Amino acid sequence: MIVYDYTGIEKLIERIKFNTGYDFSQYKEKPFKRRVRVILRKYKLTSVEELIKYLDRNKDDYKSLIKTITINVTEFFRNSEVFYQFNDILKSDLRKGYKYRILSAGCATGEEPYSIAFLFEKLKEEHYIKYKVDAMDIDRDALNKAIKGEYPIEELNSIPEHLRKYVKINEKSITIKDSVKANVEFKLENLYENNYNFGTTYDFIFCRNVFIYFSRNLQLKILNNFYSILNAEGYLILGKVETLAQNFKDKFKMIDLRNRIYRKL
Ligand SMILES: C[S@@+](CC[C@H](N)C(=O)[O-])C[C@H]1O[C@@H](n2cnc3c(N)ncnc32)[C@H](O)[C@@H]1O
Repeated sequence: MIVYDYTGIEKLIERIKFNTGYDFSQYKEKPFKRRVRVILRKYKLTSVEELIKYLDRNKDDYKSLIKTITINVTEFFRNSEVFYQFNDILKSDLRKGYKYRILSAGCATGEEPYSIAFLFEKLKEEHYIKYKVDAMDIDRDALNKAIKGEYPIEELNSIPEHLRKYVKINEKSITIKDSVKANVEFKLENLYENNYNFGTTYDFIFCRNVFIYFSRNLQLKILNNFYSILNAEGYLILGKVETLAQNFKDKFKMIDLRNRIYRKL
């Protein structure tokens, strides 16, 4: 069994910040080390000190390193139950003529915000409503893919059949229709910088499979910001793997424990 030596990990974090601007000092230690281990394995190294030396000689590799750390695995309707619940919440109190505002925080390559948009498109067929999804991520490459809105044909399987009409089906790929794209805006933003937002407040904030990497302090900072940009009685949707920090339990009402859906009090 290979034993990896993480001595110098703070130095690595400083170097990454200096060379790329990304600050991982507030990331949780364990998940961060797991990601570093993936990088060490990739370069067949066994210590962080060796990795730092390697990066000093190969500065271009910082880019792929960031990708490995921020890992943007996603899919359309990931953990679909959350989307069913979201759809039910929407339908139970549909506001005629209202423009819904949704934030998808840590949107990766766009499958999450487009899944949300498909549900609104469907509702729009029968009800007079409007919507706009703002989506943000720190990964520029992921966002470029999201903006393009083109995905391998295999991804079609994750989209429920009655919603497939919102994508163009090509031979080897699917493309999000322009009418849907028009309601989804992508932005390069960092969740732990306070000044990110799209200059608006939200009825729903999705932030799923992102928090797991962040230290408690960082989570609190982000939750504070979410709280301030959520409309009265707006929903925070954290999804299955995240939990709401204790300090916020009196600020939100639990709506769905399994899918971690909360409503602002
Ligand atoms: C695992 S993906 C989750 C995608 C989607 N929310 C889902 O659940 O399918 C996590 C995303 O969070 C993004 N991310 C990580 N740290 C971030 C930060 N500080 N600010 C914004 N996005 C971040 C990563 O770039 C990645 O695309």
